[in-house]
Amino acid sequence: MKICVVGLGYLGATHAVAMAELGHDVVGIDLDSTKVGSMNAGKVSFHEPGLEVALREALSRKLVRFQKTFEMTEPAQVIFICVGTPQTGSDGSADTSFVMSAGESVARVISPETVVVGKSTVPVGTAAALRDQMSEVAGFPVRLAWNPEFLREGTALEDSLKPNRIVIGSWDDYSSQKLKEVYKPILNRGTPLVEVDVPTAELVKVAANAFLATKVSFINAMAEVAEVSGADAVELAKAIGYDDRIGNKFLRNGIGFGGGCLPKDIRGFVARAEELGAGEAVSFLKDVDVINQRRRARVVALAEQEMGGLKDRRILMLGLSFKPDSDDMRDSPALDIALRLAQAGAKVTVHDPVALNALGEKHPELIREQDLSAAARDQELVILGTEWSEYRAIEPKAFGDLVANKLIIDGRNVLDVAAWQAAGWRLIALGRNVHN
Ligand code: UDX
Repeated sequence: MKICVVGLGYLGATHAVAMAELGHDVVGIDLDSTKVGSMNAGKVSFHEPGLEVALREALSRKLVRFQKTFEMTEPAQVIFICVGTPQTGSDGSADTSFVMSAGESVARVISPETVVVGKSTVPVGTAAALRDQMSEVAGFPVRLAWNPEFLREGTALEDSLKPNRIVIGSWDDYSSQKLKEVYKPILNRGTPLVEVDVPTAELVKVAANAFLATKVSFINAMAEVAEVSGADAVELAKAIGYDDRIGNKFLRNGIGFGGGCLPKDIRGFVARAEELGAGEAVSFLKDVDVINQRRRARVVALAEQEMGGLKDRRILMLGLSFKPDSDDMRDSPALDIALRLAQAGAKVTVHDPVALNALGEKHPELIREQDLSAAARDQELVILGTEWSEYRAIEPKAFGDLVANKLIIDGRNVLDVAAWQAAGWRLIALGRNVHN
């Protein structure tokens, strides 16, 4: 099918490549000519395993191309809107202006048969407003459907090609039929399809992210209680996780969640629910946010307590991205903690296998070090902020020979406590009672 993808950020770039992988003929559009140029040259502007290889393959098979304008040799049958909805203002609400302006541009080039599909994460009710606006610009009733995306950074392409479900929200049968055609190879494999009305489709995405954020904050709340009662939140998570009503995923306590979705989406959800008069129903999400932020403060307090102050103390932060296999530092707990420590006067060195490039010139107060051994030299405290496999593989004995003081805070609960302790480290694992 002829497919157009508007917006080449994380979602759009991945979706365009995924559509080409399914065999469609894809045009990706973005206003940013640098992005368009680099995608045409087979380069992705963010770190996502496997995506660049798949992009180059699709380019060489001429299944995908990228451009700034909507001019097309043949009209697209399905146009996906994948632009961002950043957090705006102090109330945390989502800015839908990119969605609305993309919709306006799309409405100028479509025919009544074109199916426009929203994939961006939006406040419930946005699709209806978008459809009205687009229909006015187009001069005919525009077919609009909503099809949320659940991809995770680090496994984005895999998540797009092998999703655990496909959700389609539409106002008309024709649109949902077209979308089912788009996803035919995936649906033929038996992937569950959930067909819903449009507001439900909009809500599914924020509800899913709100639930995931709540799970992480729940276990972090348990970690806080464990820390003052001598219990162990990692063992507790294991014990409750065997109950399959609870499940053992997303119950890893530590410095909490970050990234471009979870934090922004729960804030946007609260703001939208308040606008709709249902604010009380989701006000617990404010606590979810507060618990998450408190874990960051906890690490700063622990560092201060352990070292008897922070001024001029030498601290190494291992990892800057909000999760491994990504160079995304949006709302990253590791970066935030590094900045808080530097703000308090500590000399903070940062290391990350990939994110240092993306950090660029930002935050000059942080000392950058590309080499892990050089980064460790003479440090008085090491904090593991992102669980890159490279850090899990550190040999604690040799690493201990480099630092000035063998003190480590495991902010992700991934290190082998016994091995680190046997190598003479004082290891503090968040929410655990394993400290020596
Ligand atoms: C998330 C959703 O998972 C995805 O479905 C949606 O499409 C976009 O938002 P992503 O932002 O890539 O994906 O990150 P995710 O893997 O969900 O992790 C979010 C954060 O939670 C990370 O900072 C991670 O470190 C943290 N986390 C996750 C925990 O602290 N503990 C856990 O047990 C799991």
